[in-house]
Amino acid sequence: MTQRYHIWTEGCQMNVADSAKLAAGLDRFGWQAVEGPDGADLVVLNTCVVRDRSEQRAVSHLGRLAAMKRKGKADFQIVVMGCMVGPKDDELRRRFPYVDHFARPQAFEGIFEALGLAEDTGGEFWPTAFPTPTGPTGFVPIIHGCDKFCTYCIVPYRRGREKSRPMDEIVQEVAHLTHGGVREVTLLGQTVEAYGLDFPDQRPDLGDLMAAMHDLPNLQRIRFLTSYPKDMTPKIVEAVRDLPKVTEFFNIPVQHGSDAVLDRMRRGYDIALFRDRVEMIRSMMPEASITTDIIVGFCGETEAEFNETLALMEEIRFDKVHVAAYSPRPGTIAERKMEDDVPAEVKKERLHAVEALEERISTELNTRYEGSDQEILVEGKRDGRWFGRTRSNKLVHFMGETSVGEVVSVHIEKATAWSLQGTTADDALPIL
Ligand code: SAH
Ligand code: SF4
Ligand code: F3S
Repeated sequence: MTQRYHIWTEGCQMNVADSAKLAAGLDRFGWQAVEGPDGADLVVLNTCVVRDRSEQRAVSHLGRLAAMKRKGKADFQIVVMGCMVGPKDDELRRRFPYVDHFARPQAFEGIFEALGLAEDTGGEFWPTAFPTPTGPTGFVPIIHGCDKFCTYCIVPYRRGREKSRPMDEIVQEVAHLTHGGVREVTLLGQTVEAYGLDFPDQRPDLGDLMAAMHDLPNLQRIRFLTSYPKDMTPKIVEAVRDLPKVTEFFNIPVQHGSDAVLDRMRRGYDIALFRDRVEMIRSMMPEASITTDIIVGFCGETEAEFNETLALMEEIRFDKVHVAAYSPRPGTIAERKMEDDVPAEVKKERLHAVEALEERISTELNTRYEGSDQEILVEGKRDGRWFGRTRSNKLVHFMGETSVGEVVSVHIEKATAWSLQGTTADDALPIL
């Protein structure tokens, strides 16, 4: 009988990439993916704990799965993987005795052992070597873990120290993805410019890596996430400018607009450095799109400090802002040594203030696209309209003749804060 599995994924692109790898491994053993837990033999929760609310979503999902089993409605094994699982899992085992296996991020081997599949590989084939492509875009982790230990952040405690993957292995993985129809890869790291810094002589670096995969046939676009301001060097920004397939898109989390708060967050840079990095990018690529992450309501954040965040947004004019209210995470420096003293309702007000300003700025920036022709990689169709993204990572809905995975020229007719709308131009670009 064919075994069926369901993978539920929360959190960042790292988790999306890990889920695709696990799926590839299970597919190799002839297992079949299903949409939900009903009828599954295995349910995997790939968890995120970056904020309390994400952790609570995983916990309540587990509760629902346990109830299904208790009521005899289901008989699946449960695996919990991802950032909920730290180096020690005894407490998790106590809290969730019905979970069959806990796996730390990237610890796929234990999952296959737990499922009794490990010996089938015969040692010569590692089942999760390559992810299963699921569309024209793919995520490829290039550096695991994080060494930065920002005071609010749980990620280094769950994903471990920075470790770069060998360049050859990454290029092979990208080649594999392009054979499966992927046209755009996003190279992933918590601080992606740190790629290669742990190698002897600190080479190859991110620029070398992007150059090494650049000429793979059928690969149309290369993106990378997430930039850490201090690690961004002119060499990497020059590589983005000089390699045609690398898109002019940067996600550079600033986290806060006040030097005093950045200091409490131990981000390791000040606003002057951040401003320098933005100027470096814009002097080389005036049209580059720059997005960021911001935390409001961090320990001790005064009204004046918060206003510095708003002022920075006005100054830089980010294409997009991912904003979150500070949420204390167990074991982090802030949780142990600082007071979470901004009241919940103040956090909420500040969150809304950032969102409102972001909406105004994004609308202004996106309106500049109206009337232009943009290169779009077609990702799918929804409600009778195609959707895809510009090189600058703007979501576009459009009408016209095309198919998934094609790169087409779209004439932009209308813009909102969140997306653009248009129609394919007659002169569709041929696939390279
Ligand atoms: N490595 C990236 C992002 C990692 S986590 C970086 O250095 O920016 C993704 C985002 O979650 C962060 O950018 C931050 O804005 C947010 N985040 C992390 N910890 C948080 C916490 N304790 N409370 C609220 N938001 C948090
Ligand atoms: Fe977390 Fe800071 Fe590392 Fe980003 S750089 S993952 S925010 S510790
Ligand atoms: Fe969440 Fe882990 Fe990513 S905590 S944001 S899934 S690195």
